[in-house]
Amino acid sequence: MRQASNYIPREILDNICAQNDIAEVISECGVLLKPVGKTYKGLCPFHDEKTPSFNVSPEKQAFYCFGCNAGGNVISFLRKYDGKSFMEAMEWLSERAGIPLPAQDGRARQISQKRLELQDLNRFAMEHFHRQLLDPKIGGYALAYLKNRAIKDQTIREFQLGYATPGRQDIVKAATQAGFSIQQLIDVGLIRSDEQGTTDRFRGRVIFPIRDERGNPVGFGGRAVSEEQLPKYLNSPTTALYDKSKTLYNLYEARQAIQKEEKVILVEGYFDALMPYQAGAQNVVASLGTSFSASHADLLKRFADETILLYDGDPAGFQATLRGLHILLAAGLRVQVASLPPDTDPDQFIRAQGLDTFNQLIDSAMNLIEFQIQRATQQHAIHRIDVKTQAIKEIALTLSNLKNQVELSEYAKYAAQELDIERSVLLRELQRLGVKMSRPVSPPRHTQAAPTARMSPRESIEWQLIEALLQGPDLLSLAKANFHYQDFTHPDFATIGRMLWEASDNEAIIDMQNLINACANEKITSIISKALLKKTIPPNLTTRVEGCLKKLKDFLLWDVERMRRSEALAQGNNSKSILAELVELSNRRRQLAR
Ligand code: UTP
Ligand code: MN
Repeated sequence: MRQASNYIPREILDNICAQNDIAEVISECGVLLKPVGKTYKGLCPFHDEKTPSFNVSPEKQAFYCFGCNAGGNVISFLRKYDGKSFMEAMEWLSERAGIPLPAQDGRARQISQKRLELQDLNRFAMEHFHRQLLDPKIGGYALAYLKNRAIKDQTIREFQLGYATPGRQDIVKAATQAGFSIQQLIDVGLIRSDEQGTTDRFRGRVIFPIRDERGNPVGFGGRAVSEEQLPKYLNSPTTALYDKSKTLYNLYEARQAIQKEEKVILVEGYFDALMPYQAGAQNVVASLGTSFSASHADLLKRFADETILLYDGDPAGFQATLRGLHILLAAGLRVQVASLPPDTDPDQFIRAQGLDTFNQLIDSAMNLIEFQIQRATQQHAIHRIDVKTQAIKEIALTLSNLKNQVELSEYAKYAAQELDIERSVLLRELQRLGVKMSRPVSPPRHTQAAPTARMSPRESIEWQLIEALLQGPDLLSLAKANFHYQDFTHPDFATIGRMLWEASDNEAIIDMQNLINACANEKITSIISKALLKKTIPPNLTTRVEGCLKKLKDFLLWDVERMRRSEALAQGNNSKSILAELVELSNRRRQLAR
């Protein structure tokens, strides 16, 4: 329980999990489950499929998909399905079960109390601005502005768009009357304090409340409603709640669509997100301006593994695209680029062309190499040698950000073909830039490699043993007496072995839920769940474990024998003692095999 014990005592955690049946929670999250014997089956929410291979076992309190190998317990499910952090999942489950999480220590409580108050203030301001917008005497002009920009009533309501009146002290007065302090208003960035006292930050502007990925209002953006007003957009400063480099506009609203589509469209501005969203392309988030950061990429990665960059068709947008591209690649996301006509942004495009054309634009997004080649050829003919050299350099630079070896090698192949150069030339340029090209080993898109895929005979036996021990943890003492987890050759089995061995050192009965909670690695969780949800469990687990142990010991003796042989060879040593040892080792192996 490494992860959770920092925050939540074990008994409370166990109790909360026990009160949240995994099948109920998964159904409530919208996954249709049908009972089949002791388990439930449904269409996997983590990959596209026509026949159900997603299994949920209330008995084991675990899920596993035999199609994409997603697996885990109720907490893992919420993390994967909803992008929740461990603590967020626990908060959600504790609320669902009506079991309060333990109080935090004094200082942590103070900090979270302060944050809650600031959130309250933001919520107050959001509602206040929204009311002003809807009051024809106050917000008539701003409302007309939004209508003129084709924003629908429902969007105004759903996003709580608002209007900040032009007065210097309007929000100060309203908020202090409602019981908030000047300090809180400063802390949350709604007012500035200067020589003349305090002044409202947002004045005479349309207001876009900015939520974090959990839906809490953390900041605001204000759009000028007249041409003269500068700057065009004004945003909340960095506060205890709002960090621009960690917030993506519309992520909260878009997250279900992102998970469904398995990709996210990244745009620059408020309107660029709202317009496609209200038209029906809801998997859009905005980086608000052009400063896309590595934290943004990490945030996105929790929800999707493919991003479509849709930045404005102007030079600034192009620069931002390139920068975003490298950041996303470095974070391990797949990236495609959709190109807008010159001097158009997504907002204008969807207004002029409609949803279908917008979707076509997204579907026709280029892979990043296409994008770079297209760009290089836009300026000059690619057959000119200097152009080609420059293009190779740029492409190599992009590829140097790629983490996934499969993609890297595919892109390199593609680029060599398109540029009509020898692959070796491109590879050399890549190597010069420090890119290591290794054999592709990564799993295919969307699916994790099954733990049992492509295993050596020895690894298969290791898997059988791990599986049997997960199904019957009381057999661990038998295994421990005959085998050491470090002798697993498969790294994942060694990891699980260590977890099992250590767990059985610490407690008499091994709790699989605990084991799952303690592991930070999704692949390990998946392997454990796969073993737990296996349909046919060998009738006699003890015999199975004994058999595996015997075979693995045999392999170990082989290892020793081989090692001694090569040592002897290396030393040119044919001495009697080594020969005798080798004979003895062979005999022991033969005995085992009987
Ligand atoms: P753009 O200048 O492309 O504006 O800035 P836009 O989104 O097309 O705005 P409209 O359509 O004219 O209303 C893109 C984003 O950059 C941020 C805003 O988040 C904006 O949506 N920005 C822009 C600022 O923060 N400040 C500015 O002065 C301008
Ligand atoms: Mn615009």
